[in-house]
Amino acid sequence: MPKLLSSDATAAYRRDGYYSPVRVMSAADAQRYRAALEAHEAKTGKPIQGNWRHKMHLLFTWADELVHHPKVLDAVEDCIGPDILCWTTNFFIKEASSPGFVSWHQDSTYWGLDPDHVITAWVAFTEVTPENGYMQVIPGSHLIDQLPHVDTFHKDNLLSRGQEIAVAVDKSKAVGLAMGAGEMSLHHIKLVHGSDANRTNDRRIGMSIRYIPTYVRQTKVRDSATLVRGTDTYGHFDLEPRPKADLDEAALAAHADAIGRQVKALYQGTDKAAFRA
Ligand code: NI
Repeated sequence: MPKLLSSDATAAYRRDGYYSPVRVMSAADAQRYRAALEAHEAKTGKPIQGNWRHKMHLLFTWADELVHHPKVLDAVEDCIGPDILCWTTNFFIKEASSPGFVSWHQDSTYWGLDPDHVITAWVAFTEVTPENGYMQVIPGSHLIDQLPHVDTFHKDNLLSRGQEIAVAVDKSKAVGLAMGAGEMSLHHIKLVHGSDANRTNDRRIGMSIRYIPTYVRQTKVRDSATLVRGTDTYGHFDLEPRPKADLDEAALAAHADAIGRQVKALYQGTDKAAFRA
C-alpha cells in the first residue's frame, strides 16, 4: 500500500522521472522554515553561503526536522522503499532580481552513487514560478544514458562545478514545475533539468533533499549519510548524528566531517577543497 502517493503518481514517477507537486505542509509551515533560515542569516548579516548551503540538516535542528518530515518520507518511501538514507541536502536560493541559474544537467554526473535509485525531494519554502526561476525538466530523460557534461565553473551557475550537458537539449520538451510554498517535487537522479534566473522582487528558496535506499553504494569515497527511516543492514555509509542544538560543537564537527567527504567526491579531478560560495 502506498503511504502518500497514488499508484498513478508512482507510475508517473517511474515513467517520467519526476512527480510534482506534492503538498507536504501548509504555506504557513513553509514560512516557518524560511523564517528559521532567515533568522540565521540575520545573525551573520549575509545569505547562507559556501559549505553551509550543503548538508545543513547536520547543523540546524529545523533542517534535521525537515529531512525527517513524515509526509516527505512517506512520498519518498512510495518511490524507493522503506529503508531510507538522507545522503545530502542543498539550498537552491535565488536572490531577488539576481543572475543565478542552473544549467541543464543530470545530478548523477559527479555523485558516485550506484545504482541510480536516488530521488530528490525539492521542498519549496516560497512559491516557485516561471518568473522566479522554477525548475524545468525533460520528461522521460532519466531513462537515457548518462550524458557527457562539461565543467564551466560559471560564476552565476548554482551547481558545484557549473556542469552542463555537452550536447543540445531539446527545450521544446521542457516542463516547468510551478509550486506553492509547502509543496515539493520529486525527481530521479538522471532526469535532465535546469532553471533560469529570478526576475522577481523576492527570494526564491528551495531545499533539495537527496534520499537513497540503504543498498545504494558510494563509489568514490567512504561517505556518510543520515538514516531517516527503516534500518540499514548494508553499512555502505557511516551514519551521521542528528544535531541536538543549532550549530553546537558536535553539530559543527559532524558537518565538517561530512562535507569533507562530499567535497572529495564531488570535486574529484579538480583542485577545489570547498563548495563554491
Ligand atoms: Ni540538479
